[in-house]
Amino acid sequence: MPISIEGKRILVTGGARGIGGESSRYFAREGAHVVTFDVKDDEGQQLADEATSEGPGTVSYRHVDVSNLNEIATGVDFAIEQLGGLDAVFNVAGITRSAPAEATPVEDWNDQFAINVRGLAYVCEATFPHLKDNGGSIVNFASDAALMDVPIHSSSFSASKGAVISYTRTIGREWAPYAIRANVVNPVVMTPIVEEVRSKMAPEERERYEREIDASVPLGGRLGDITLDLAPVLMFLASDASRFITSQILGVNGGLAYSR
Ligand SMILES: NC(=O)c1ccc[n+]([C@@H]2O[C@H](COP(=O)([O-])OP(=O)(O)OC[C@H]3O[C@@H](n4cnc5c(N)ncnc54)[C@H](O)[C@@H]3O)[C@@H](O)[C@H]2O)c1
Repeated sequence: MPISIEGKRILVTGGARGIGGESSRYFAREGAHVVTFDVKDDEGQQLADEATSEGPGTVSYRHVDVSNLNEIATGVDFAIEQLGGLDAVFNVAGITRSAPAEATPVEDWNDQFAINVRGLAYVCEATFPHLKDNGGSIVNFASDAALMDVPIHSSSFSASKGAVISYTRTIGREWAPYAIRANVVNPVVMTPIVEEVRSKMAPEERERYEREIDASVPLGGRLGDITLDLAPVLMFLASDASRFITSQILGVNGGLAYSR
């Protein structure tokens, strides 16, 4: 089966920039129609306009804060109206907080679980009625930090991404009778959030961290590139070519970690 997403109707959360933004641009280039949700309205609208003018697919932006359940519900209504249905959902929106495990502010727990976990789950729940008759693909973004220790203070972030994995495997089983597949992607690519986390480090800490990360990526010894290394894999997951794959964790990580 050829790998194609031409005409596919795709929802992407966190679609203003980084993985969600550049992947939406890639999907539109491959002929898909995309609705993006984000809270960075200027960036989201600009990327959507650029992608649509490049074509042949389209990207439409909508302000949706995924920690707000009402905004998700009205955002999904908008997406269905805009796209005329739904074939794939990419839950990319996420935040990263970093603090020593013995001193993690309660806001870190609350914010990361509200966005990374509850928001993601509610997008799945709100889109389920639109996927259940014809099947479809849900792709939830977790992190290798859920599977292994990483050299940053990330206990609450790692825990939120661990929850993404267990949630996704559960819906993978529960919604398989509807031909809805649900998979996790653990990416390791260069994006604005990675740069932000690094910019908060002291220079020596940053240098040591970057050396460790680069050395731990077997393929190429570097973080991946969204468009070259990740987006084609996401296109495969949105396409019918991946129709027999569900409940899996796919590390698009140059071999940094493996999962089962
Ligand atoms: N970049 C990596 O190597 C890497 C590694 C592990 C996990 N991830 C995960 O991949 C996903 C994307 O990461 P990225 O590097 O592109 O990050 P990014 O910060 O560049 O992009 C995340 C997007 O999510 C949006 N967002 C944040 N909170 C939101 C909310 N409440 N509602 C709607 N949108 C919201 C942001 O505005 C941003 O546009 C995240 O879930 C992240 O945890 C990335």
